[in-house]
Amino acid sequence: MAKKPQTVFVCSECGYESPKWMGQCICGAWNTFTEEKISDTTASGLSAGSAKRKASKPEPIGKIKSLDAERLDTGIGELNRVLGGGVVKGSLTLISGEPGIGKSTIILQAAAGIAERYGKVLYVSGEESPEQIKIRADRIGGVSEELYILSETELEAVSEAVSSMNPAFLIIDSVQTIYTSQLTSAAGSVSQVRACTAEIMRTAKEKNIPVFIVAHVTKSGELAGPKIVEHLVDTVLNFVGERNQGFRIMRSFKNRFGNTSEIGAFEMTRDGLKEIGDLSLSLLEESSKGAEGAVTTAVYEGSRPLLLEVQALVTASGLGFARRSGIGIDSGRLNMIIAVLEKRTGINLMSSDIYVNVAGGMKPEGTSIDLAAAVAVFSAAVGKPVRDPGTIIMGELGLTGELRGVPQPERIAGEAVRMGFRKIILPLKNKEKWTGHENIEVIGAGDIMEAVNLALED
Ligand code: TYD
Ligand code: MG
Repeated sequence: MAKKPQTVFVCSECGYESPKWMGQCICGAWNTFTEEKISDTTASGLSAGSAKRKASKPEPIGKIKSLDAERLDTGIGELNRVLGGGVVKGSLTLISGEPGIGKSTIILQAAAGIAERYGKVLYVSGEESPEQIKIRADRIGGVSEELYILSETELEAVSEAVSSMNPAFLIIDSVQTIYTSQLTSAAGSVSQVRACTAEIMRTAKEKNIPVFIVAHVTKSGELAGPKIVEHLVDTVLNFVGERNQGFRIMRSFKNRFGNTSEIGAFEMTRDGLKEIGDLSLSLLEESSKGAEGAVTTAVYEGSRPLLLEVQALVTASGLGFARRSGIGIDSGRLNMIIAVLEKRTGINLMSSDIYVNVAGGMKPEGTSIDLAAAVAVFSAAVGKPVRDPGTIIMGELGLTGELRGVPQPERIAGEAVRMGFRKIILPLKNKEKWTGHENIEVIGAGDIMEAVNLALED
């Protein structure tokens, strides 16, 4: 009789299990399968932790404490905002990002901020020595009496330190370096990362300590990726940016205690991450106002209005097919915008390569940048710049070329006025219901053709 298999192959991207090794996983990732013991992958919780657990009792909802009062101020406004107003006590937050993006830096700054306000903070590092962390802390001015560093990779030792210290805030950097001695698989394997995260979550809830865990986004497939534990944690923050440029964006993908559309903006400097309070200003700093193909638009990132530039480049296609490429704009959306432009304005873009870029590495959600992208492409194609560079253009584009209104244009107008813009071109529907600002000229356009004529030089 065939022996029952002892091992299983697990995808380090999505956690899918297969009895056989596969080159590509059902999630689409290549070379991500690693072999793990079945006993490890099925360990639903660690025995020591679960044995100690008290059974919970039902409580009347009126007696349950409201969470809002229980938030800690990290001392970093942009981080507080992304978290929904500070770190919730007893919550587990996952910070994911590529190596070198600044995860350790931001959490060390948060650690120092919390230590200053609420007392003891425990920073567990499985990646760096205490000396290395001290060097960083010196750099960012994050040395606090109440900040404790523990260089440790065994989960049980970490739990012991947490029990004896009872910190106000706990950091694990990174979860891929931590292992529990109850499993035989290596640190960083899917079963270790899952089991350790589940145990850390239990500690957070039982002791009501907020915890940040760091997880690297890996390309190799040797380490389990952040996705493996996203469903376990309360909040997932993703830290992104171009490594060679200073600009960094913190975005939340999941937040049980706040909304997920808020972003935090930072700049990596020689002494740590600095908050960018005026995001519109830094996004427009290097804008090419007045150039062909450049259009300033406005979007909402979470609750704040933001001005940014959309740029388009249209060139004769040298190849047999026309290239269309969008950065910061969905490629399906871009193709639709180009199709509507061709159909409704009569412009011929069939043999043109078209590139559209949202400046500053932003990826605005929603559809209110449609019109700006359309005008930018038209402007680049015909070689005519926007007539008045102090114009904001925004609106959603429908398939028939009609323009649909955008939410709360008055607030956007306020931001535009603050940034020195004098004119705003938006859908007629927005103009009809306009209640806001006198310091800006509001021009309504019914369809794409009209918007292009209003926006561009004759
Ligand atoms: P780090 O926080 O170690 O990244 P991660 O934990 O995500 O891997 O930061 C990585 C980079 O940031 C590193 O290349 C050095 C740079 N850096 C600065 O430019 N200024 C600073 O003050 C610090 C602490 C780091
Ligand atoms: Mg790090």
